[in-house]
Amino acid sequence: MSKAFYITTAIDYVNGHPHLGHAYEKVITDVIVRARRSLGEEVFFLTGLDEHGQKVQQSADAAGKAAQAYCDELAESWKALAAKLGLTNNDFIRTTEQRHKSIVQAALTKLHNAGHFYKATYKGFYSTKEETFLTDRDRRPDGTFDPSYGEVIELEEENYYFKLQVHQQWLIEHIESHPEFISPSYRRNEVLGFLKNNVLEDLCITRPAARLTWGIPLPFDNDYVTYVWFDALTNYVSAAGAHGDPVVLKAFEGVGLTTQTPRLTPQNLWPADVHVIGKDIVRFHSVYWPIMLKAMELPLPKQVLAHGWWMKDSQKMSKTTGNVVDPIAVIEEWGLDAFRYYVVRELDIGPDGNWTDAGFQARYHAELANGLGNLVNRALSMLKRYRQGVVPNRSDELAQDATQAARETIDHYRRHRLQQALQSIWSWVTRANQYVDQTAPFKLAKDPAQAARLDEILYNLAETCRLLAVLLWPVLPTTAGKIFAQLGISESPDRMTAATWGGLSPGHTIGGAAPLFPRRDQPAK
Ligand code: MSP
Repeated sequence: MSKAFYITTAIDYVNGHPHLGHAYEKVITDVIVRARRSLGEEVFFLTGLDEHGQKVQQSADAAGKAAQAYCDELAESWKALAAKLGLTNNDFIRTTEQRHKSIVQAALTKLHNAGHFYKATYKGFYSTKEETFLTDRDRRPDGTFDPSYGEVIELEEENYYFKLQVHQQWLIEHIESHPEFISPSYRRNEVLGFLKNNVLEDLCITRPAARLTWGIPLPFDNDYVTYVWFDALTNYVSAAGAHGDPVVLKAFEGVGLTTQTPRLTPQNLWPADVHVIGKDIVRFHSVYWPIMLKAMELPLPKQVLAHGWWMKDSQKMSKTTGNVVDPIAVIEEWGLDAFRYYVVRELDIGPDGNWTDAGFQARYHAELANGLGNLVNRALSMLKRYRQGVVPNRSDELAQDATQAARETIDHYRRHRLQQALQSIWSWVTRANQYVDQTAPFKLAKDPAQAARLDEILYNLAETCRLLAVLLWPVLPTTAGKIFAQLGISESPDRMTAATWGGLSPGHTIGGAAPLFPRRDQPAK
């Protein structure tokens, strides 16, 4: 049984408000997924929600709702966002689901039985907002704690701890011997620097149920619930288990795993191929998570791919100041593909980005309306007008440019260089628009002696549109579908094998041309 390419996003806190940052991560993951599927690979795409913990409980209390009912309501709006973004995820996991809770409990039992935990009393500082213990190292030079920690209280508490230090050396060796494990490389260097210069402190993996009830109970001590990050990270494995992954199910044999839905066709998913996450949670994914997996006797994921953070108008996005980009509002005003295009084109996976409305609109007009939209519209309108929409004989004048653009684009998609993929496609869009200007088919059309030359140009342009649709589909699925419809092609542009020159048959009749990206900066006529 073959193994699917298994790719995940971070699971969002259910009580947060979906903004550009969350949407960006899901869109880049979806582009990787679509590109690989288009290249013929079997892909399993997981996304979902992180629903336990103090913050969720507090928000539910403030809303006067029971925590589960509160999560159920919010989960609907997050699922609606996923649909609005055009995500092609295979599953959507929620950490309050039984299928997840049972794996978390099995994992805890396994680690407890194997002696990875111990119980100890901690006395010190605790940030309720961040649900984390603080040490003197977290103090600022003036002795205070950063306001981002919110209220910091003194606490004396007995909890369970996960022994991490014994894992430090093999983890360093693993990261050093697997250069692709953390990408981009500057994030990898940060993690290595951290591991080499610090002794890993043991991880507190519980919270007393007396203080926090909204969590997964420890199977071996009901006075405690699981720390939210132990719970959340495990989602990647629990989803695989829920789909009958034999590696995961085997790892939890004999530790009380009972409630998995039986599957007719179990899927081979684990280990994950890529965890797509933001730069702020790299340490959780590339230090704690590999150690948890090793202790669970499960293989490690192949890659942690960390993207940067978006700002708006050079400021951190914040709901309190109203400085946020609402992806749904942008999509409603400009269309899904314009949003997907902008975020992928503007920001390479890695560095931080800055959203400005002016920058978005500039790319929309220059690259989508004038660049791609104009090309397709000119090509198909002329074919309609001068040849009644009937494709002329094949001509290979642009075949070489097309082949090169396709080769480059596919190579970029394979390496997850999504911004570069779009750059390759657009250099061809520009080239094709120049071809229209230079060959001036609208002039040739006036001279019957030039009919054969006009045929050649019209074929090259129509075929260019077909290939562009196929290459663009992972990023611009709706637009690619529209181009195919305008070309009168009934299949979907979702197979990269169709990106070879000469697919359009002479004699085929196209549909009708219509603008793909209407300009928005001119008053309506
Ligand atoms: N629940 C945890 C993740 C658990 S994964 C096992 C969490 N949730 S979150 O809602 O705060 O963030 C979800 C994802 O969105 C993270 O990968 C985070 O980096 C990303 N982003 C949140 N704000 C962002 C920006 N402003 N820009 C880009 N991505 C950002 O962390």
